Amino acid sequence: MGRGGCPGRGCRAGPGRHRSAAARATQGARRYRDAPAALAHAQRGTTLIYSRIAGTGSYLPEKVVTNADLEKLVDTTDEWIRTRTGIRERRFAADGETTCDLAFYAATHALDAAGLKGADIDLIVLGTTTPDIIFPSTACLLQHRLGANGCAAFDVNAACSGFMYALGVADQFIRGGQARRALVVGAETLTRMLDFSDRSTCVLFGDGAGAVVLEASEEPGIITTKLHADGGYKHLLYNPVGVSAGFRDEPNHGVRVMMTGNEVFKVAVKTLDRIVGETLEAAGMHEQDVDWLIPHQANLRIIEATAKRLSMSMDRVIVTVDRHGNTSSGSVPLALDEAVRSGKVQRGQTLLLEAFGGGFTWSSALLKY
Ligand code: ACO
Repeated sequence: MGRGGCPGRGCRAGPGRHRSAAARATQGARRYRDAPAALAHAQRGTTLIYSRIAGTGSYLPEKVVTNADLEKLVDTTDEWIRTRTGIRERRFAADGETTCDLAFYAATHALDAAGLKGADIDLIVLGTTTPDIIFPSTACLLQHRLGANGCAAFDVNAACSGFMYALGVADQFIRGGQARRALVVGAETLTRMLDFSDRSTCVLFGDGAGAVVLEASEEPGIITTKLHADGGYKHLLYNPVGVSAGFRDEPNHGVRVMMTGNEVFKVAVKTLDRIVGETLEAAGMHEQDVDWLIPHQANLRIIEATAKRLSMSMDRVIVTVDRHGNTSSGSVPLALDEAVRSGKVQRGQTLLLEAFGGGFTWSSALLKY
């Protein structure tokens, strides 16, 4: 090896190029506390790979269902729903419209925003708890419709944390060099499993999908993701029916959302409080470094509690729950896409995304957009 030459076998990059890559990675490691790998890469003269969002997209079904519409179906009031949840209306998928349909439109918009085609994608991870069919996965159905055949494609079921889990998984694939361009989707038709005789759950949910295209980058991008679960809380929030348990001879074969809402509420507030602290600490960052909080849209009161924990005024929080209801895995990427397309979220800004859902699962991502 010549003086100042590259230590990497077969690498033709000049020494100057590697010095600047190493300098960038060292700078990254100083900036973000949970990036010890950046230093190791810098010392080896290689560049750490991050994933960054190249494009966002979303889709909502056309049918708007207002609280007044629900008053005709179930013993509730617009006033109760608004004051307890912040929800005014939500969307319902049309008859025959599936989770994959919603995912397809959201993914197409995200690919367009990134200037890419389906064939450019080498990984699809789709968060959903309402797949079209049990198998193939909705990710596989989507892959074929996008013309991305051949790449890895799979679903992640983490209830309302589905998109955030999918994002964390795709980020690891890109950081590990297993993928360069990943499509990450959160898509749900949760209204299909609602029991319209249960007023405590049927007013909360809506249908929708969001997507991001992630691509490999020398600069963050995603700084850190945190994924957690505690299956000990199953009894507070679950669907009692699956393939190997629970089929019943009753409407919808017993498929419904079972939720002890007020208990879920308390755990959600405490848990989200903890995870935003954990996320900032892992990145060596502070509350004031965050430009936008993009939370799971289940309940405005939970969102306000997390914003208070971060000392953030609500004008730095993206809120869509009033118009979307809780779209489960769709909620965070829908809110992100809306914030990007409205011009609120700008390139270079720091975003904190978080979600909480059945399992319990909870998750976060801190990123430079
Ligand atoms: N309309 C009118 N009254 C209602 C309705 C309704 N739609 N639903 C419940 N009530 C009544 C109850 O019967 C109860 O009446 P009572 O006092 O006479 O017994 C009263 O309202 C209070 O009920 P609570 O359940 O204590 O109400 P709470 O203030 O907790 O609000 C809610 C309920 C909105 C569900 C809240 O607890 C919540 O948002 N929880 C968290 C939901 C969540 O975040 N889920 C996680 C994601 S979902 C997923 O992963 C699939």
